[in-house]
Amino acid sequence: MKKVLVAYSSRTGKTETMANYIAEGLRIGGCEVEVKKISAIEDSDSIAGYDGYVFGCPTYHKDMTGGMKQFLFMAQMANLVGKIGGAFGSHTHSGESAPMIYDTMMHVFKMDVTDLGPLNLTEAMVGEQDGVKACQDYGKAIGEKLS
Ligand SMILES: Cc1cc2nc3c(=O)[nH]c(=O)nc-3n(C[C@H](O)[C@H](O)[C@H](O)COP(=O)(O)O)c2cc1C
Repeated sequence: MKKVLVAYSSRTGKTETMANYIAEGLRIGGCEVEVKKISAIEDSDSIAGYDGYVFGCPTYHKDMTGGMKQFLFMAQMANLVGKIGGAFGSHTHSGESAPMIYDTMMHVFKMDVTDLGPLNLTEAMVGEQDGVKACQDYGKAIGEKLS
């Protein structure tokens, strides 16, 4: 069974909700999933060893959070070259974080990112049925890419 790490930052719970629905989709796709807040991940050894990675962060002030920036430096040390990946985040209007994480995974970490691109939902969508389905489908697609 392929193992996937879903690691996220979330201030008010929207991106966390996305993380849990993405994990559901991955599990439906036959993966074993660990969902972790980035604040609970202490070193690069805790990031290494998974088959796939999905990282999520909300957008604040047109940027990702400081915690996510630090986490990505740690992830770089885990050498994720060739690993399957995706990125997600909740926002209200501009949504810079998820595309920035996705770009870092693709261009810096040289990961095999999903063709779907980043999953960037408005917070209004996160609680809607369409939003739930979008998250589950994103997880399922990454699960299929892994299998
Ligand atoms: C002070 C502040 C600044 C924000 N800046 C942005 C922004 O630049 N772009 C955007 O799309 N959303 C912005 N948002 C909205 C958040 O991204 C949105 O509420 C998101 O759903 C929060 O996700 P979380 O619950 O996972 O923390 C901002 C919200 C706050 C409170």
